Amino acid sequence: MNNAGIKTNVVGRGWLVFLALVILWGLLLFRNQDVTGACELVPADYQDKAMPVGWKEDPKVLSAGKAIYEGEANPSVKCVMCHGEDGKPTQIGRGAPDFSDPSEKCTQGSDAQWFWRISEGKPQTIMPGWKTHLTEEERWQVIAYLHTFAHKGK
Ligand code: HEC
Repeated sequence: MNNAGIKTNVVGRGWLVFLALVILWGLLLFRNQDVTGACELVPADYQDKAMPVGWKEDPKVLSAGKAIYEGEANPSVKCVMCHGEDGKPTQIGRGAPDFSDPSEKCTQGSDAQWFWRISEGKPQTIMPGWKTHLTEEERWQVIAYLHTFAHKGK
C-alpha cells in the first residue's frame, strides 16, 4: 500500500472543499450586485420595464415630471424634500444618490432599476415606495425628469 499517495489525496480534497467554500461565500456576498458591483439586480417583475420611446426628450413629459418631483402635482409626493431642487440630496435626504453627478454609480443604472426603486422604495432607508401614489405613467415622467439633472435628458 502506498501511504504517501493516500495522504496527498486527503490533503488535496481538503483544499477542494476549502476552495468550494470560498467560492460559495463569494457568490453569497455578490448575489445582490450586478457585474460592476454598482447597483443591485432588478427583481424579475421589474426587469422588462422601460421608458416609453421619446419621453426623455419630450418637454410635456419633462414638465409633468418636474411638477411631480416638486410636489405641485400632488402635495403628498415631494421628491424634492429629500432629493433637492437640483438633484443633490438635502439634509433630510442624507444618503440619497446625487442625481446631478454623472459619475454617480446609480445614475448610470437602468431605468428599470429606478422604476423598481421608485415603485417599491428601499427597505431599511427613508426612501418610500410610490406605487400607491403615482401611476406607472407618472413614475416614468418623474424618471425622465431625474435624467435632466446629470445628463440633460440623455
Ligand atoms: C423622505 C425622503 C425621500 C423622499 C420623499 C424621496 N426619496 Fe428617493 N431616496 C431617498 C433616500 C435616502 C435614498 C437613498 C437610499 C439608499 O440607497 O440608502 C433614495 C433613493 C432614490 C433613488 C435611487 C434608488 C437606487 O436605485 O439606489 C431614486 C431613483 C429615488 N430615490 C427617486 C425618488 C423619487 C422619484 C421620489 C419622489 C416620487 C423620491 N425618491 C422621494 C429619500 C427620499
